[in-house]
Amino acid sequence: MSAGSNDPRRGRRMLLVVAGALALVLAVVAGDRFGARAQARSQQGSQPYIQAYSSIDAGRYLVKVGGCNDCHTPGYMEADGQLPESEWLVGSPLGWRGPWGTTYPPNLRLFVQETPEDLFVQILHTRKVNPPMPWPSVNAMSEADVRSIHRFIKSLGPKGERRPRALGPGEEPEAPYLDMTPHNLPEGAMAAAPFSLPAR
Ligand code: HEC
Repeated sequence: MSAGSNDPRRGRRMLLVVAGALALVLAVVAGDRFGARAQARSQQGSQPYIQAYSSIDAGRYLVKVGGCNDCHTPGYMEADGQLPESEWLVGSPLGWRGPWGTTYPPNLRLFVQETPEDLFVQILHTRKVNPPMPWPSVNAMSEADVRSIHRFIKSLGPKGERRPRALGPGEEPEAPYLDMTPHNLPEGAMAAAPFSLPAR
């Protein structure tokens, strides 16, 4: 028997193809709508980009997955992240030395007490220097997420002491530091980097 136009198998195949195409169109439209809604939400700044029970919970999550403890909490990496929240973000006396000078991760528990939420948002959205702080990452955070981070850190309360001030490229650090000197770079490569210590 030849597969003519009224072959039932062919009809079923056609139906499957049409249903598949329809499902794809629906998925694309739904995905687009979801993306647009998420974007609108983050731009409004009224709630966190991520879903959480509260702004503080969102902040706790963002700090944890954002790697803030890696540098701002002494011993966090060494303890494989198993440090109680009460010890988080007190800053570190260990310097990071490179072509920009030597920077010390500041005490964020004190910083949020002294820095109102609006100013905190402005700083995280606009500051560009210095390494190794991941400024491009925090520059890209939604406003609501930055506010959540501020609220979470503030909820931990003030703790710890101030960290050493940053040193310029020519200054010799007295405290312990990590050496981030680049090696084997092509001539003049570092000159193009946007490194400069802010006036303090
Ligand atoms: C790789 C290390 C590193 C990581 C990861 C890191 N920071 Fe930093 N952070 C620093 C250093 C170093 C400085 C000081 C930079 C300077 O002196 O210019 C800094 C500065 C800051 C400041 C400015 C404070 C002040 O006193 O001016 C804020 C706010 C901050 N970090 C928040 C965060 C948050 C929030 C996260 C997580 C999303 C984070 N940091 C992750 C190293 C880090």
